[in-house]
Amino acid sequence: MIEKRIGNTPLRRCGHLSEKFSANIYIKDESCNPGKSSKDRAAYFMLEEAIKGNKIQPGGTIVEASSGNTGISIALMAQELGCRAKIFVSKSCSEEKRALLEAYGASIEICDNSFGLHVFNSTQYQAQAYAANHENAYFTNQYYNSANIKAHYKTTGPEIWEQTHHQVTHVVAGIGTGGTISGIGRFLKEQKKDIKVWGVEPTNSVYQFFLEQGKIENNGIVHDPIEGIGRTFIPGTFDAQVVDQIFQVDAESAKRVAQEYRAATDQLIGFSSAAVLAAVEENLSKINFKEGDHVVLYFPDHGDRYLQKLYDSNHQETTKTFDIR
Ligand SMILES: Cc1ncc(COP(=O)(O)O)c(C=O)c1O
Repeated sequence: MIEKRIGNTPLRRCGHLSEKFSANIYIKDESCNPGKSSKDRAAYFMLEEAIKGNKIQPGGTIVEASSGNTGISIALMAQELGCRAKIFVSKSCSEEKRALLEAYGASIEICDNSFGLHVFNSTQYQAQAYAANHENAYFTNQYYNSANIKAHYKTTGPEIWEQTHHQVTHVVAGIGTGGTISGIGRFLKEQKKDIKVWGVEPTNSVYQFFLEQGKIENNGIVHDPIEGIGRTFIPGTFDAQVVDQIFQVDAESAKRVAQEYRAATDQLIGFSSAAVLAAVEENLSKINFKEGDHVVLYFPDHGDRYLQKLYDSNHQETTKTFDIR
């Protein structure tokens, strides 16, 4: 059974980064999950609750709006449950993730954007509408499902706490639905409230402003495209109480950092993982790590999901911000 293999992913000390940043830098490698991303955790918890509530039966359809990874995890688990998976992705979803969704038997719908439940052509709106209009279809709704946060509160947070022998001082993670950082942050702050929980999002995403001002400003500008992270709205699965600070990173900087990291270590890291690393690099003088610090960088997936976008020098793509109006 798949659930037995989810989680307990390795936490590895990275010698290269520890030397570069003069602190103990660890990577939480979520590509070691069966579906090869952190999203197995949220998908499993959401499906487990739905099964308990009799919301999913064999032969039914599980519906989700996803940047790709949650959809892949759901498609994998739907097969075991004897269900179909219907996944609404936005145009920016990588070719590699679309191919994986198909390989796991999911049916894919491509939407214009992922701007939330109230925007007609968004993945979330279309997923909700599909589930409402089809018999035996269930929308897991990761942006408003408390099981998303719970997955990380019950598993990822405790793993980081134990794997660092209670010495963790900082966690840095990308924010998409907010489930990961909220669950990890909630658990770790209950253990030791001065552990720093830092989020990372693309330039022009709304979380940083929300954390600082308690509101969002809809100026019509959409954040840089870094798959999996950044939003134009605040989902129900973001808990601002457990996040200390949020850094913004350009897509181009994340891309450059991914390539530099490959040159230094031969490792291919994912887009949002590169954003996490770029955020630390760009803010190092402000951050001022101490030698005894134990810093966990959260890497949700692997670079093999972004071969074209990050590692193919011939690949042409606009990474400019665009406008929703
Ligand atoms: C690659 C990647 N990074 C980061 C995230 C953000 O995680 P969360 O949605 O828990 O905030 C996601 C979410 O889909 C993702 O796919």
